[in-house]
Amino acid sequence: MQNNYEEQISKIIADLTIEEKANMLHGIGLFTSGDVKEKGIPGLETSDGPMGVRNQFPMDSWFPINLSDDFVSYMPSNSAVSATWNPDCAYAGGKTLGEEARGRGKDVILAPGINIKRDPLCGRNFEYMSEDPYLVEEMVVPMIKGIQEADVAACVKHFALNNQETNRLWVDTYVDERTLREIYLPGFKAAVQKAGTYSLMNAYNKFEGVHCSANKRLLNEILREEWGYDGTVISDWGSVHSTKETAEASMDLEMSVTVNFDEYFFAKPLVEAVKKGEVKMEDVDAKVRNILRMMYRLKMLGPEAANRKAGSYNTPEHQQAIRKAARESLVLLKNEDNLLPITKERVAMEAGERAPKKKRIAVIGRNAEHQHAGGGGSAEIKALYEISPLMGIKTYLGGNAEVLYAPGYFIPGKKEDVNAVNWQETSLERQISRRDFMGETEEQQKQREEVMKARKELLEEAVELAKSADEVIFVGGLNHDYDVEGWDRDNMKLPYAQDELIEALLEANPNTIVTFVAGSPVEMPWRDKAKAILWCYYAGMETGHAFTEVLFGKVNPSGKLPESFPAEYTDTITYKNGEFGKEDSVTYKEGIFYGYRYYEKEDIKPAFAFGHGLSYTTFAFDDLQVEVLPQAGVVNEEADLEKAAVKVSVKVTNTGSVAGAEVVQCYVSDTECSVQRPVKELKAFGKVFLEPGETKDVEMLVNNRGLAFYDVETKAFVVEAGEFAFHVGNSSDMIMESTKIFLTK
Ligand code: BGC
Repeated sequence: MQNNYEEQISKIIADLTIEEKANMLHGIGLFTSGDVKEKGIPGLETSDGPMGVRNQFPMDSWFPINLSDDFVSYMPSNSAVSATWNPDCAYAGGKTLGEEARGRGKDVILAPGINIKRDPLCGRNFEYMSEDPYLVEEMVVPMIKGIQEADVAACVKHFALNNQETNRLWVDTYVDERTLREIYLPGFKAAVQKAGTYSLMNAYNKFEGVHCSANKRLLNEILREEWGYDGTVISDWGSVHSTKETAEASMDLEMSVTVNFDEYFFAKPLVEAVKKGEVKMEDVDAKVRNILRMMYRLKMLGPEAANRKAGSYNTPEHQQAIRKAARESLVLLKNEDNLLPITKERVAMEAGERAPKKKRIAVIGRNAEHQHAGGGGSAEIKALYEISPLMGIKTYLGGNAEVLYAPGYFIPGKKEDVNAVNWQETSLERQISRRDFMGETEEQQKQREEVMKARKELLEEAVELAKSADEVIFVGGLNHDYDVEGWDRDNMKLPYAQDELIEALLEANPNTIVTFVAGSPVEMPWRDKAKAILWCYYAGMETGHAFTEVLFGKVNPSGKLPESFPAEYTDTITYKNGEFGKEDSVTYKEGIFYGYRYYEKEDIKPAFAFGHGLSYTTFAFDDLQVEVLPQAGVVNEEADLEKAAVKVSVKVTNTGSVAGAEVVQCYVSDTECSVQRPVKELKAFGKVFLEPGETKDVEMLVNNRGLAFYDVETKAFVVEAGEFAFHVGNSSDMIMESTKIFLTK
């Protein structure tokens, strides 16, 4: 079949003029590439994005059409999906996204975003998966497979090193080779080689002085030659800056945010450059081939076209899959005195003199009712519905409890008038300030007094309510003014004076349950005082239901943090080395030692460690067995790295009284090595569901790659003989069992 395509493709290419070829290589609409109708070649319909299929735009305007039929399923963000630590949820999420994209008539869905969370302040971290490359790999592969089963191409983004938003179009990134190979590339490589992604999006930024759209090192050498990628590379919108240079790099399809389609670098200028002999026809043909190949794979062309799947959107199955992932994504950070779950008895009516007395449930904080779907940048979604935590609680408790809501904090208006201009239309303008619209604008200065007054009043109202309530649930966190494309946060503090409010609530009622909806870590200076803290990433349209089910114990939480939550931003290495959020160039001086790899090396205790997440039950781990397999350490060629090296098994028992799921995490330390290795690194995990009293064997395989490091001398991953330690636990800072092995080869 593969050869069939290639022959057909050769014939098609031979029959195309340069004008027709160029038409296929650039956008002729904001989300549509050019077609060659007369010769039966369609254009590609693309759409954002990672949290569901974005609403429909006209071909040449960023003002949405406002259709009544483009409401879709609002899916959990990739942070939420990764917090499930359940590859089945990633697969189901991909399947939903693919089916909905196809249902909306799309060919390419611009997702998933998998850049590494290098620093907690990156504005797009909510769209990304993890700080850990292994976790990214394990989640992205099933997600892509799920998407592509629907005859839709995944478009994995942003390749590569797009780890900050500040000046994202121009910032130049430098990273040493070992770090590049061990941390920043593995997710993309797995997307190509293990998941077979049909497309990939280049990043905006520069790498080693050259924009990623024209970066031969990344695109030609690493992606095509080393990894053997034969799919399509699509430019991020407006990331192309030249015709000749980009044509020579292996970037195939130029998309942008402006509507001067004929002037795109790959439009008329490309035709002229070919005619003048500045760009070789064979480079153009290679791009056309990559696009046609993807079209064959998607059954847009060829004998299989009649069998292309139709897709569907807003199905009950999609909503169920989203609810399941949302449930599994909630992370219980803290739970002293078993304050959670709120039991039935705690909210049941009590006998009164005549009529029974309803319990007063105070829900405080704007995020209890905030709708998040419509924000964040290109991840914005026109959701069919979005259940807020407040609605979740009310629908769950019904009429026999009194649910009282107070906003608690005040959110000042933004400087920009959202109706005047769509942010994306101006997104290529050089962004100098990190957060110019959140800072102290003149208008906001004028509002300051009003804000302070409003804040005080809201705080007082909330505290009064808290004092009179039987249960106090605070729902705060961030929103897409902070978790947003195009800007990084200035600091890791909770906005809108929420810390002050939380302190006041905890004083009014020490049993206040603190919960968050947010896409990236925040400092929690009061965390020793709070008994219960529940974390919810943007988890899609069913967030409020999932949140409520966990809060009231209908669902036992099983999410784990896919990133470290530092106690203070100043604890991060990127704060200390000053290499985050710079405008001109950023050097990843920390190398591989960021996130938990840094905290463990320096013995810095984060507020909540990578992999942390509590349950309403308890689990015991024992009988850790580690079996060294014959292939261990035998790496003669690249493929040997994927061979299983060590079989790790452990018995896990649910020792509590409710059913629940545990994520068994296996970390590996290379204790004898010629280069400095992290204290330990995640190399395998498994999620297991257990009834009370039940025991299961959890078996995990660590492959040779899990023992290897990138050797800059030989330019290859190598496994060195010597001692390795295997640690198994339910968090990076909660290791239950450890053992050692010796590799002789
Ligand atoms: C974003 C991409 C997105 C594209 C199209 C860009 O601003 O970086 O992730 O897919 O716009 O909306």
